Amino acid sequence: AHISFDSSKLKKFIHDNELGEMQAMVTAADNELRKGTGAGSDFRDWLTLPKDYDKEEFARIKAAAKKIQSDSKVLVVIGIGGSYLGAKMAVDFLNDTFFNYLPDDQRQFPQVFFTGNSLSPSYVYDLLNLIGDRDFSVNVISKSGTTTEPSIAFRIFKDKLVQKYGADGAKKRIYATTDKAHGALRQEADANGYESFIIPDGIGGRYSVLSPVGLLPIAVSGASIDELMKGAADASDEYKDADLTTNEAYQYAAYRNILYRKGFTTELLENYEPNMQYLAEWWKQLMGESEGKDEKGIYPSSANFSTDLHSLGQYIQEGLRNLMETVVKVDRPNHDLDIPKESDNLDGLKYLEGRTMDFANTKAFEGVTLAHTDGNVPNMSIHIPDQTPYTLGYLIYFFEVAVAISGYLNGINPFNQPGVEAYKTNMFALLGKPGYEELGDKLRKQL
Ligand code: PA5
Repeated sequence: AHISFDSSKLKKFIHDNELGEMQAMVTAADNELRKGTGAGSDFRDWLTLPKDYDKEEFARIKAAAKKIQSDSKVLVVIGIGGSYLGAKMAVDFLNDTFFNYLPDDQRQFPQVFFTGNSLSPSYVYDLLNLIGDRDFSVNVISKSGTTTEPSIAFRIFKDKLVQKYGADGAKKRIYATTDKAHGALRQEADANGYESFIIPDGIGGRYSVLSPVGLLPIAVSGASIDELMKGAADASDEYKDADLTTNEAYQYAAYRNILYRKGFTTELLENYEPNMQYLAEWWKQLMGESEGKDEKGIYPSSANFSTDLHSLGQYIQEGLRNLMETVVKVDRPNHDLDIPKESDNLDGLKYLEGRTMDFANTKAFEGVTLAHTDGNVPNMSIHIPDQTPYTLGYLIYFFEVAVAISGYLNGINPFNQPGVEAYKTNMFALLGKPGYEELGDKLRKQL
């Protein structure tokens, strides 16, 4: 496999027989997933998406990305949750850490900023300010087309487009990614002739990064979406056999369930690269929304190392013992740097001369793994060779297929998210949306 899953540090926590004893359950979960006999089976199209996607639309995405690259200094991506996190994670993961900070005359591709993922007016104000009078385009992404946060942001950025380019000019700079037939955004896109892309029916928000939801922003950032899809397609071949002796994505699913049943109810996803922080944010949605229901499920959390070893590290080492951790470790960073030589040794670092920063980073990883294992935190790691689009596609698929199996192992529907609705309904009622009057009255009394 292109990436490798290392469970060798689990010996202290899991007996040799335990993985094999999960095989029958994993086979059943695999059947539920592949044969569609499990709960939520209408939302499994991400399984085959890396090979079975709309090639004509894919070409249109690449053409749209080229156009945006040629006529815009900034792409504003509007969306929330599953319509946001995948693209943000991938743009960060695949690019220079300071991608968005480079000045216009030093950059080949537009800045990519995300909004509509909160209701903070300050954030939107600051982004409007940052764009200033530079050329920009908007990619608005919403499957339902009615989510409040992106809808409000879209109005504001649409307004700026209209002021700058006029009503017709604005329409040529709006790219809508939404449902093929339903929702307010689809209606608006059709009525105004925005270029639009389809979020397929059988793919939930958190599984949608390899659909147009993720692909357009990723392509605009200059990363190869062909390679991304190729990595995912190869992973779909790699992780299709339910045999736990060979399928490492299924091993990961099985081990985290074994650990969960022993009381390790929180899993931390960890990295040693600052531009992988959003990998964890994306993963948290994928895991949390898939598994946290029916009053059970592993709580997904994260830590960024070595930064957080100087904050959360204390808790992880010695706090409440309900933590397990999964590290995504890059074996070959994009760049490595020598630790410089100095004639004296006032800082005590002479012993590291001739070594590189990656050597230090890797020793930190190894030292932490052993320390946390000693501190009774079960540790798993996923080694990825590099931070290329191919590798990211592979990793995305690894996690997607793992959480589907993991969810079925825990007896839940890994593809719905009924709990996301509760706050939305209350917010509509409190905002005074037509149709929610009665609930609004009731809630206002409670406040
Ligand atoms: O996973 C989910 O369903 C949510 O996180 C949604 O993606 C999020 O609420 C955005 O929904 P929409 O794309 O309909 O605007």
